[in-house]
Amino acid sequence: MAVNVDLVKTTPKAVDVVGVPVAVTGAVSRALGLTRAALAAHGFEGKPGQTLVLPAATGPTYVAVGIGDPAVLSVKGLRDAAAALVRAAGRRSTIATSLADLEGVEAKSAAQAVVEGALLASYRYLGLKTDTSGASTLTSLSLIVSDKRSAGARLGIERGTVTAAAAALARDLANMPPAYLTARMLADKAVAVANESGLDVEVFNRDQLLAMGCGGMIGVNQGSIEPPRMVRLSYTPKNPTGHLVLVGKGVTYDSGGISLKPSDASHAKMKMDMSGAAAVLATMGALKALKVKATVTGYLMCTDNLPSGSAFKLGDVLTFRNGKTAEIHNTDAEGRLVLADGLSLGVESKPDAIIDIATLTGACVAALGVKIAGVLGNDQPFVEQVKEASQRADENVWQLPLAKEYRKLIDSNVADMKNVGGPYGGAITAALFLSEFVGDTPWAHLDIAGPMDVDSDDGWLSKGATGFGTRLLIELASNFSK
Ligand code: BES
Ligand code: MN
Ligand code: ZN
Repeated sequence: MAVNVDLVKTTPKAVDVVGVPVAVTGAVSRALGLTRAALAAHGFEGKPGQTLVLPAATGPTYVAVGIGDPAVLSVKGLRDAAAALVRAAGRRSTIATSLADLEGVEAKSAAQAVVEGALLASYRYLGLKTDTSGASTLTSLSLIVSDKRSAGARLGIERGTVTAAAAALARDLANMPPAYLTARMLADKAVAVANESGLDVEVFNRDQLLAMGCGGMIGVNQGSIEPPRMVRLSYTPKNPTGHLVLVGKGVTYDSGGISLKPSDASHAKMKMDMSGAAAVLATMGALKALKVKATVTGYLMCTDNLPSGSAFKLGDVLTFRNGKTAEIHNTDAEGRLVLADGLSLGVESKPDAIIDIATLTGACVAALGVKIAGVLGNDQPFVEQVKEASQRADENVWQLPLAKEYRKLIDSNVADMKNVGGPYGGAITAALFLSEFVGDTPWAHLDIAGPMDVDSDDGWLSKGATGFGTRLLIELASNFSK
């Protein structure tokens, strides 16, 4: 359900919850009616993430929200605090808070972060539940902001509402079961998003992909009864500051193909193997509302990966859009095959930079764990832009080396390369494979296999798909210039 977000000057009387920021030092707001010692007696010290609900017989419930050391208050800290407040508010539906009115963080970023934290923490995927009692009950969020910060805060509210809705769209898509989101359905969804958000959109079917030489898409799709789709979305502002291309892996279900995955819990997560495409689509849908100044083109590479009598086989050689060939040694290394065509197409228009985003390798999860995405690239200044966007969005990345000395691990006897390397360094060999399709265009690759989902609610992350990369890509596009 949509949450109404507004800006007020003073605490509204008819509100269910008032969230009051409390730091670890300094005065405690008189609104709480408790001293620091009294709060501490209840185990609340004002540390980041801490909340204390103060029950009241009448009127609003006050919630003390820990913000830590006021000297180091950050955008991330405010986003986390807003999420903690929403979780502490439980099933109460209207919340007011002055979290965005604190000194130390500029008004616009502060309001954006508070809105993001609150809305993302209240996200639930209920798509297929007949019992909707688990739905979020949050209907209204009021930011209490003083006059001198209100102009900035208003802009931040607008931005945060857009970025949180984008991330929620990406989460929705990734949470959908495979039968509810085939490649065709994902393409239909992309057309709907494009029409709502002022983008140009083109959808390419199997015959068109074949004619275009997209052998990676055709090969991966070959075992399926569902046809593939490629979607190109274009956002073209006046007097653009540059041109950025986004390419998303849209594998709507990854069984592994002939190299079938084992039947364990992780297999069921492979409905989320289109999380990269979801992040690209959600980002594209937000650009106009955010008045992004760069031209942005998005490619969604959509297909499932299934075994059957017609499936592509080990030893097969695929020819990609740019003419290069790859020998298949494992049909489960399919993400790089669909991205190869997307990257090839993306660089044809000579953009200033190209970035792909993909749930690409278990090796990246082994290296960095589930909270950090891998980033690799051929151009350090562009990788730095990605890292900065990651910081602003609080979607963490860590750079891995694009180590040329490992290129021989993907040498093939019969083709330009094979689609897997050895047992080690799998995130790197996957990126080396992708680098064959970008020429000298500045390129970065985000491997989001780890952070694509969470097992339980955690701050502004809600159980299930995370929408990871959406807000990062929005930040990247918003600040992009050649
Ligand atoms: N979609 C998977 C990667 C993945 C793993 C995503 C875990 C999310 C969570 C990808 O297509 C895959 O199967 N990769 C293989 C590559 C290997 C065969 C070289 C992997 O990581 O095992
Ligand atoms: Mn796979
Ligand atoms: Zn996959």
